[in-house]
Order: sequence, then C-alpha cells, then structure tokens
Amino acid sequence: MTATAPVRRRLVIGNWKMHLTGAEATELVAAISAGLGELGAEVAVAPAFPALAPAAEEIERRRSPLRLVAQDVFPEPEGAFTGAVSAGMLAAAGCSHVLAGHSERRQIFGDDDRAVRRKVEAVLGAGMVPILCIGETLAERDAGNAESVVGRQLEAGAAGLPEAGLGTLVIAYEPVWAIGTGRTATPETAESMHRSVRQRFADLAGEERASRAQILYGGSANGDNAAAILAGPNVDGVLVGGASLRAESFLSICRAAG
Ligand code: 13P
Repeated sequence: MTATAPVRRRLVIGNWKMHLTGAEATELVAAISAGLGELGAEVAVAPAFPALAPAAEEIERRRSPLRLVAQDVFPEPEGAFTGAVSAGMLAAAGCSHVLAGHSERRQIFGDDDRAVRRKVEAVLGAGMVPILCIGETLAERDAGNAESVVGRQLEAGAAGLPEAGLGTLVIAYEPVWAIGTGRTATPETAESMHRSVRQRFADLAGEERASRAQILYGGSANGDNAAAILAGPNVDGVLVGGASLRAESFLSICRAAG
C-alpha cells in the first residue's frame, strides 16, 4: 500500500479539550491565524462548545484558512436531551469535522463502540467529516492486544458505512498511554500501527479509499517530535492536545507538517 505513495494532504488539529473560554479561544485563533502563513497542510482547532461560535467569528473575520472541529456530538437530531449538542447544531456553528470516540469520551464518559458508531453516522448525516478516534490502553498493549483492539474499534466505527462516508472518514490513532503523559509513541511504533490501520481500513473500504484516507497520530505530540512522527509514510497528520494551547508550540507542529 505504501509502495504507490498516494498524495494525502496533511492535517494538524489542536484539540483544546476543556480549556479556553470564548475570549481566550478568539485570542488563540487570532495568534495561530497570524502565524500560519502559506502552509501545505490543513490546520484545524477544536474548541469547547461555548467557544465554537467566537472561534468561528474570528476565523471568518480574518479570512483564516483554519478549520473548526467539534470535540464531541450527541447522535440524536434534536429533542429532550439536556446538555447535549446535535450534529446539525455543530454544522450550523461552522464546524467541518467532529471527533468521535476520543479516548477521554470512551474512558470518562462511557462511550462504547456502539455509541461512537452512532456519532460517526450523525456527523456524516449532517454533512461533516467524522474523525474516528481509536487507540489501545497500556494494559492492552502490554498484553499484546494493541492491533486487535484498534482493529475492533475501527471496524465498529467504519464497517458498512455508506460509500461517501468511507470516502471522507478521517482516522486518528491515539494510544491512550501516550495521551497527556509526555510519553510519545516512537515514530516506528506509530508508523507500524498506522500501516496496520490502513490495511484494515482497506478491508472495510477498499484499497483506493484506504490509500486516500488521512490517518492522524495523537499522544504527546509537540514541536520537537512532530517531524519525526510525520516522517512515517502512513502518518498523515497529528491530533495535538497540550501543545496546541499556545500559538508558538502549535505553529511549530504545523510547520513540521508542511
Ligand atoms: P496530548 O497531546 O496532550 O497528549 O493529547 C492528545 C490528545 O488527546 C489529542 O486529542
């Protein structure tokens, strides 16, 4: 699969998690936009829900190429679901992509494979791109089950999706043991898992779609390690947590991506 070296645009996403108010998000969008310059990579930020609209306004005002990502979604279109936000609302707020199944959602909020699948479908239904997040825990890796866990999550999230969905889906491999720990996967570990994920995705979506799919790495990515991680031929971008909260460190990762 890597032999044909398909052209895939790199994608760098800052996942701001539960940080930054609307005013702070506006400031960071402004600083990132000002420093972006002419990059070949796509760059996006994922603010918390209340900061989406202010971030979208700042992006619009600056005519910034930054894209807007939501961190989560509830799969029902509308109704009595206190505290929930629908895919339609996120699309209307200016989001182009939505994370589905981030490990923090899986671990802290109990999202299982079935719930994640419903989110993926809701995002597609609202005309946005789902970013299916998959990744094994340290215990699963130590038990030798990393590939099977990741394969199961991928299959649950993607198998049998409509063709258009399979064609737009973005996959993010985020090993749980590397998130927020400062312990990044080595470039070899990341590339090896990304290659395996692409092969699995080819079984589900066909070689052509798999060769075009963006597969991102996430887990303690920063300005010092991004270039080495991105050197893997199957690593098409990074999903950045902590290092995305300051313009300088996030921009250095964007520059590493091209
Ligand atoms: P850190 O970059 O802080 O490890 O977080 C990664 C992540 O969870 C991105 O979604």
